Amino acid sequence: MIDQIVVDARDLTRVFGTSPPRTAIEGVDLRVHSAEFVAVFGPSGSGKSTLLSIVGGLDTGYRGTATLLGRDLAAMSDRELSRLRGAHVGFVFQAFHLLDHLSVLDNVLVPSLFHPRSASMDDAREALRKVGLHDRMSDPTTALSGGQRQRVAIARAIAHRPALLICDEPTGNLDADTAAQIIDIFTSLNRDDGATVLCATHDTRIAEAASRTIELRDGRVVAAEVSP
Ligand SMILES: Nc1ncnc2c1ncn2[C@@H]1O[C@H](COP(=O)(O)OP(=O)(O)O)[C@@H](O)[C@H]1O
Ligand SMILES: [Mg+2]
Repeated sequence: MIDQIVVDARDLTRVFGTSPPRTAIEGVDLRVHSAEFVAVFGPSGSGKSTLLSIVGGLDTGYRGTATLLGRDLAAMSDRELSRLRGAHVGFVFQAFHLLDHLSVLDNVLVPSLFHPRSASMDDAREALRKVGLHDRMSDPTTALSGGQRQRVAIARAIAHRPALLICDEPTGNLDADTAAQIIDIFTSLNRDDGATVLCATHDTRIAEAASRTIELRDGRVVAAEVSP
């Protein structure tokens, strides 16, 4: 795989509101290369979600520069950002966000309704195989456990083979054993498939699984470490 800079963010600052203004992140740099697994680690309120929203093209109200796959996000319209996300980014959130009246397979295919050239039926099946749910494809998601529901959300996020998989507290709603299974999936997606993973967490086990960790405290980077 060609080494590529997937995310390049420099001196990012995000201030919310005016009376009083609240600085969510300040002066943050983040660079993510292809095939890296980077954890953004820090306590609640430290700015992790704010940082991920900016580099994932979901929030444009920042100062500083942010590029995704070489494209300057501040220079793009909402429509262009939506297309870029649909084609090249997959998102996994703490709360799964599944559509419970649909089957497992249909949930994985939902993004392709909005981005027609994204995941095919075969891609969706392959993604479900990777997360170990190929035998549950026609079940309603209501029949699944929390960990299985998060695996559906991961399959949905990877089916179109995104250049960047962004995860925001993906184990936050799961018990320890289930969380460990989810972490194993991210590890194998990264190690075996070369997926580029950017994961916000306060779970130390995700930080240990990652190839690199940046630590935020009160909106600033306080440490950056490479795993031994
Ligand atoms: N949309 C928003 N409006 C106002 N304040 C916000 C908003 N989003 C985040 N913040 C504030 O920014 C800070 C960082 O939040 P966040 O990025 O969600 O942290 P984390 O994900 O690490 O818990 C917090 O003080 C939070 O209250
Ligand atoms: Mg958060």
